[in-house]
Amino acid sequence: MKVQALKGFKDILPAESAVWQLIERTAREVFHRFGFAEIRVPILEKTDLFVRSIGEATDIVEKEMYTFIDRNGTSLSLRPEGTAPVLRAFIEHSLHTLQPVQRLYTIGPMFRHERPQKGRLRQFHQLSAEVLGADHPRLDAEVMAMAWMVLTELGLTVRLEINSLGCPACRPDFKAALDDFLAARAGSLCEDCERRRLTNPLRVLDCKSSHCREQYQTAPAIIDYLCPGCAEHFTAVEQGLDLLGIPAMRNKFMVRGLDYYTRTTFELVTDQLGAQSAVGAGGRYDGLVAQLGGPKLPGIGFGMGMERLALLLAEQGAGTTPATIDLYLAALGETACKQGFRMAHALRGQGVRVAMEHDNKSLKSQMKQAGKLGARFALILGDEELASGQAVLRDMTAGSQDTLALSDNLQNWAAALAARILVG
Ligand code: HAM
Repeated sequence: MKVQALKGFKDILPAESAVWQLIERTAREVFHRFGFAEIRVPILEKTDLFVRSIGEATDIVEKEMYTFIDRNGTSLSLRPEGTAPVLRAFIEHSLHTLQPVQRLYTIGPMFRHERPQKGRLRQFHQLSAEVLGADHPRLDAEVMAMAWMVLTELGLTVRLEINSLGCPACRPDFKAALDDFLAARAGSLCEDCERRRLTNPLRVLDCKSSHCREQYQTAPAIIDYLCPGCAEHFTAVEQGLDLLGIPAMRNKFMVRGLDYYTRTTFELVTDQLGAQSAVGAGGRYDGLVAQLGGPKLPGIGFGMGMERLALLLAEQGAGTTPATIDLYLAALGETACKQGFRMAHALRGQGVRVAMEHDNKSLKSQMKQAGKLGARFALILGDEELASGQAVLRDMTAGSQDTLALSDNLQNWAAALAARILVG
């Protein structure tokens, strides 16, 4: 029997990896411009970390984690998201003592045992950014602006939706109103909502059943229950976005799938990916660092799904550059092959992307391969040319070619050719 990848786990094949590299490169560049530094954290953590941060009664913790018991009896889980591990590391290494405000990002795989579909995998990848130690509303706008800039530079168009989930001061009034609303509908909700109504009422608003959703259209919205501090903060976040010219729409029914959020939450959404409409999402989590045993410091961040970004790039036809090589070295004859082998190595040392085969195929077949690989130049080297100290350099785009003198000084020769090739 053939061994196959697990359901919901996907190989990223060479033909796709150029897009992935583009996404990652663009994100890193933008993150660095905003003063973020990379942190790399483990994929495996104690289960307790996620239960305490994401929340016991969330879908992620209740039914989507890859959890197992280690040899020594500890419950471990593959990380379903990046915020909790980054905060764990931030606390463990007292990073706040190095700099009062930490701007961190991490890129890598996350794991959730969801039902796979387009844009939803069990192993997926996130670009995830967090700012710890500051709570100015303009920072919230700045963090959203950073996510927005990544998308803009990738050439993608999405919608930014924002909401505020208030703080422990305004939650109780809202919860009471929501409890009353749900109690009045007891018996007419789906099984999940009936249960959630008692365990984690806010989560019912995220129900996918159309019958429930219809009823929740008239549910109380937290934005109408914000305390003066949270209301002022939210207005200032909107003003901050306005100052940067970033269009945001309020979505008063936005609830996030993780329990740690306070105040600002946001989603970057598209109508082009079917049910999996969020390409990114995040928000403020002012109580989380302390909740995990760290100092009392606020935080805000977001995660963007790389699979969804790649799908959207294909959908919107933006930013895709095929992987190309600079030069195909076509050598004919054993002596030329040996010399070409050294030349290819020297050129690679000079930064030129070179492809060369070692099996001495016909010129026709080698040129065909050069075309397939998208080479910009081909260097043709036969035993005869070699004997007369020459090779042919063909410009594959222009279709022109000229004779190139070889030299005994391989390094100088390679440097000169590299300078010529790498200009364009
Ligand atoms: P999240 O909304 O659970 O938030 O995930 C963020 C993004 O990850 C989603 O908008 C989506 O693009 C992508 N994503 C989530 N699940 C899947 C999946 N199964 N398959 C493919 N893509 C997926 C968080 O994870 C928070 N940690 C974000 C955050 C950071 N909040 C504050 N800081």
